[in-house]
Amino acid sequence: MFELIGKPARGKTCEAIQGIIAEAEEIMDEFRGSVALDAGLISSAQAVEHYEIARYGTLKSWAKQHGLTEAVELLDATLQEELETDQLLTQLGETSANPKGSKKAA
Ligand SMILES: [Fe+2]
Repeated sequence: MFELIGKPARGKTCEAIQGIIAEAEEIMDEFRGSVALDAGLISSAQAVEHYEIARYGTLKSWAKQHGLTEAVELLDATLQEELETDQLLTQLGETSANPKGSKKAA
């Protein structure tokens, strides 16, 4: 991506993701040994995916507006991977991690 726009790649701490990680650590402390632990951690993983979906979606739109076709393709490929991961986490959350959550109330 950086090569495409002719800028040097550099890293930057993401405070939003740091916050989601801190929340996941709270869940681990609070639900350690509980059957709810996996469901709680899946919710944290999904929060990360949703954040990534938002960011890649925005970047894809910006790349499109600037006519950066190759960048649009790269960003869309990553966006699709994030959407797929989100769906897999939903399936996991609704089945193995929280089987009662997938059943309809009687
Ligand atoms: Fe992801």
